[in-house]
Amino acid sequence: MSFLSVQNLHKTYKLKTLSFSSNNNIDAIKNISFNLDSGKTLAIVGESGSGKSTLARQIIGIENPTKGKIILNGEELNFKNREHRKNRFKDIRMIFQNPYESLNPKSRIGTILEEALLINTPLSTKQRKLKIEKTLTRVGLLPEHQYRYPHMFPGGQRQRIAIARAIILDPKLIIADEPLSALDVSIQAQILNLLQELQEELGISYLFISHDLNVVEHIADQVIVMFAGEIVEYGNIEQIFDRPLHPYTQALFASTPTYMNRFSHFKKTKLSKSKFQLENGCCFAQKCPYCEERCKQEHPDSTNENNGRKVACLKYQGLIEVE
Ligand SMILES: Nc1ncnc2c1ncn2[C@@H]1O[C@H](COP(=O)(O)OP(=O)(O)O)[C@@H](O)[C@H]1O
Ligand SMILES: [Mg+2]
Repeated sequence: MSFLSVQNLHKTYKLKTLSFSSNNNIDAIKNISFNLDSGKTLAIVGESGSGKSTLARQIIGIENPTKGKIILNGEELNFKNREHRKNRFKDIRMIFQNPYESLNPKSRIGTILEEALLINTPLSTKQRKLKIEKTLTRVGLLPEHQYRYPHMFPGGQRQRIAIARAIILDPKLIIADEPLSALDVSIQAQILNLLQELQEELGISYLFISHDLNVVEHIADQVIVMFAGEIVEYGNIEQIFDRPLHPYTQALFASTPTYMNRFSHFKKTKLSKSKFQLENGCCFAQKCPYCEERCKQEHPDSTNENNGRKVACLKYQGLIEVE
């Protein structure tokens, strides 16, 4: 049994406008399904606007999905159940992209870390202080840093504070939404290593959202590639990085400097999603260099499973052997 199982998740945002036009909805994520095992990392890759953060918000429970199920440790999460919501915030923690915005500038580091302990644990004042000091040390900071404010630290150290806040409740899953994007390249590797060490030590699962394929290759066990709210490709790290199959994944590799040479035979295309999606058809049809007439009419199911691999492309439809 997988530790986290997401089944057919949809999120539709209803846009409030004055017109009576019926199509004011945005399907930010559509039919998202995947499994994640304990202690493993699943990376979610895709251009800006592809629905990555929306997916994260549904899993952590900041929002309620329009349709679908989220099963954590065999139990379906019920957003309306208070106890569930509380446990979810304890078991699933989040690290955001920008440590300048995600830490309250008016609170001392100690207060920021203590907040979660106060709400979620029965620890005494002394025990909380010990836990804060231990956690700060664990992420490479010093116990006395608890008395300082976030603005006194550079970006990399701030992200360490955000990581401390994420691990202080001993979570089972951390959702990291572009955790390195706001940091200097020289600092990124240090934070990435810290995340990996913590995973080995604490057995945490990561849902690692990133548009940086280099980082993903380094950290992930499995990869989901998203385009326009849909999963276009899903597989383990070797499958995706050795032999990407979906034309969007291929174009993504072909336009990333590190992989350009290796995948120079793949066709490049404009990667951003189209303003208007086709009513039926494939979500990538308007951009796809291999688009055929049928791709504009027929929606590919991503049911071509082989060793857990999925590709949502008509080219592979009906093929049992994807490898
Ligand atoms: N609260 C919201 N209301 C309306 N539309 C939203 C909202 N949040 C996200 N969206 C839309 O959903 C799509 C996916 O956004 P998002 O999940 O932020 O993508 P990503 O994190 O991959 O950049 C975008 O088209 C975005 O404009
Ligand atoms: Mg995002």
